[in-house]
Amino acid sequence: MAAVNKLIMMIVMMLAIVSITVFADPDLLQDICVADLTSGVKVNGFACKENISSADFFFDGLAKAGLTNNSMGSLVTAANVQKIPGLNTLGVSLSRIDYAPGGLNPPHTHPRATEIVFVLEGELDVGFITTANVLISKSIKKGEIYVFPRGLVHFQKNNGKVPAAVIAAFNSQLPGTQSIAATLFAATPPVPDNVLTKAFQVGTKEVDKIKSRFAPKK
Ligand SMILES: *[C@@H]1O[C@H](CO)[C@@H](O)[C@H](O)[C@H]1NC(C)=O
Ligand SMILES: *[C@@H]1O[C@H](CO)[C@@H](O)[C@H](O)[C@H]1NC(C)=O
Repeated sequence: MAAVNKLIMMIVMMLAIVSITVFADPDLLQDICVADLTSGVKVNGFACKENISSADFFFDGLAKAGLTNNSMGSLVTAANVQKIPGLNTLGVSLSRIDYAPGGLNPPHTHPRATEIVFVLEGELDVGFITTANVLISKSIKKGEIYVFPRGLVHFQKNNGKVPAAVIAAFNSQLPGTQSIAATLFAATPPVPDNVLTKAFQVGTKEVDKIKSRFAPKK
């Protein structure tokens, strides 16, 4: 009987370990696998390239503040596998996010990663919403950290009078971003009006107005 209990315990532990590992990018099977971003070969991630160099592990694109003169007043600069091929299969990446005074990084999700932000400068009102529709939020300032759990809708707003910036870290080489408003109102082909009018309990006029705000500038 004790042996059976031991076996059950072992199976439960193994399942726990397996379920932990499937909740992040897959584990690597070699030291490095620098992404061949030009390869036509489709795998889970990118194919490994043959001729690698130090440059494949380097990026200076987060050194300077990004331009925030857009309609949201914020800019995300990614440092993921698309910018740093050496990140392929390593399960991590960074971004820098800059915010003008009043700037918003609008509600969005990362399907493949939890995010942890560190405030470089300024102050931000940040929050995420659980699947029970509970808002978890806080004001954070320079030197402070906040966490956005994987897949949950979250945002950051600069309600201060000076610019703000954060470094964001992710447990994925390519976390993916789905911005709620753009996903629903700027998809190609468009999400049908009658889906959005019913979902948001408004009329076609309101839906078309929002869609027009997201239309590409000509
Ligand atoms: C790798 O570099 C070597 C030497 O420079 C070259 O001969 C070879 O064609 C390169 N291979 C690829 C796949 O680019
Ligand atoms: C933002 O500012 C830059 C540099 O000043 C300029 O080149 C760019 O056209 C501006 N973009 C918008 C959307 O105004």
